Parts: sequence; C-alpha cells; structure tokens
Amino acid sequence: MPLFKKQPQNRILPTHIAIIMDGNGRWAKKRSMPRSAGHVAGAKTFKNIARYCNKIGLKYLTVYAFSTENWKRPKDEVEGIMNLLRDYLKDAENFKNENIKVKFIGDLEPLADDIKELIKKDEDGSKDATGLNLSIAINYGGKDEITKAVRKIVNEGIPAAEITEQTISDRLYTGGMPDPDFIIRPSGEYRLSNYLIWQSAYAEYWFSDVLWPDFTPKHLEKAIDDYNHRNRRFGGV
Ligand code: IPE
Ligand code: IPE
Ligand code: MG
Repeated sequence: MPLFKKQPQNRILPTHIAIIMDGNGRWAKKRSMPRSAGHVAGAKTFKNIARYCNKIGLKYLTVYAFSTENWKRPKDEVEGIMNLLRDYLKDAENFKNENIKVKFIGDLEPLADDIKELIKKDEDGSKDATGLNLSIAINYGGKDEITKAVRKIVNEGIPAAEITEQTISDRLYTGGMPDPDFIIRPSGEYRLSNYLIWQSAYAEYWFSDVLWPDFTPKHLEKAIDDYNHRNRRFGGV
C-alpha cells in the first residue's frame, strides 16, 4: 500500500528513479549468514520497491542488479545471483498482472541461454503494460555501454561532424528513455560504480547507510521528500 493515498499536494515525483541495490553482503554478514542469504533478501526488497513505485505512479525505475565488474566475485556467489534472476524471471507472470513493463539493460550476450530466453519472454509478455517502466541492469557497465554505442556509430558510418549528444544517447541501452532525475544508493557507499554514468550527468543523488535488504517504501518516501527540496538549475540561475 502506498504510504500516502495520494501524492501530498505539490509534491513532485521524479520521472525516473535509478537505484543501486547495494549492501546485501554486509546485511548477511551482520546476521552471520552466507552472502547468498543477503542476495535472497535483496531480491525480495527489489520486488517490494518495484511494486511500490508502480503504485505511486512512478513512470521509470531502473535498478542495478549485476555489474560488468561483479564477475570478479567467487563463482558460487555469481551462480547464486544468476539463480535468483532465474527465479525472478519464472515468477515474472505476477508482475505482468500488475501492468509493469519490464526491460533488461546491459550486455546480455554472456548470460546463459535459458536466462536469455526467459528475459525475452518476460519483455515480450509485458510489452503492452502501461504502468511502471522497470529496467533491470544485468551485466551492465556505463563504460561498456558507451564503448558499444561508439562502435555502433562507427559501424553505421555516421560522419564525425554529424555526431551529436543525441546520436550517442540513442545508442545506449537506455535509448528512448528519459535520463534519471534521481539516483539512490543505500549501503553507505558514495560512488556510482559505473552505473548510468552518461545518463546521470544532471541527476540528483541520495545516499543512505541503510543496507538494501532493509530498504523500505518509507526510505523511498524520505528520499522523494528530500528530492522535493533540491533546486535543480541545470546550469541556469
Ligand atoms: C549488491 O550487494 C548486490 C550485487 C552487487 C550483486 P553486495 O553483494 O555488493 O553487498 P555488499 O556491498 O558486499 O554489502
Ligand atoms: C554496484 O555494487 C553494483 C550493484 C549493486 C549491482 P558493488 O557492490 O558491485 O559496487 P562496489 O564494488 O562497492 O563499487
Ligand atoms: Mg556492494
């Protein structure tokens, strides 16, 4: 249930919120549990927050689930995360009934074939949804994304003088989506970790020590309230 039945008057909801879902490992460690238990708890939080965002009428939510750098982790941890992704995808029917449109961003090529098939099914199955546009970043890296966009531009033979910022934006995984207005990172880290580096050029940032599995709609509401006190100038006065 939304914490507010209707948006408080004059409150501005960002069009696009992006979240770095961080702190699962530390959450588990605090409880003397394996890191995998933190990822299980984090996956639950993700579903809860995505549903909440849909309920309050947010148009775009983009979450960082696995980075191009996360392959450095122990093999069993990576496998555990991929299995959670499988479970989520098999369960995706639930989301479809909630009018959430799902899209995956990142380099999906190295993922297992069955995961790629499930992703396609999930995206196709929810393509007519008109509620929240939920993007899940898997094997996503901002530098990798920009590098691939440059390759596309070269392969298309676009003359150098004709390349604009839009030429690049259109060729990112997020092509056609508005840039994020608001980036949320829990877990006490103050960095982007290669997330949406081009798209976040003018985003507002919100950091918190809360670990992702403990993140609730209340934290999100607090973040949105803080967002409403930001003065976005975009270089103007
Ligand atoms: C985020 O939590 C999940 C992924 C990066 C896949 P972490 O696993 O990074 O948790 P911490 O940062 O070690 O606590
Ligand atoms: C960022 O978290 C990636 C995701 C949340 C998926 P990390 O835990 O990988 O980031 P660093 O290593 O602390 O920068
Ligand atoms: Mg982390």
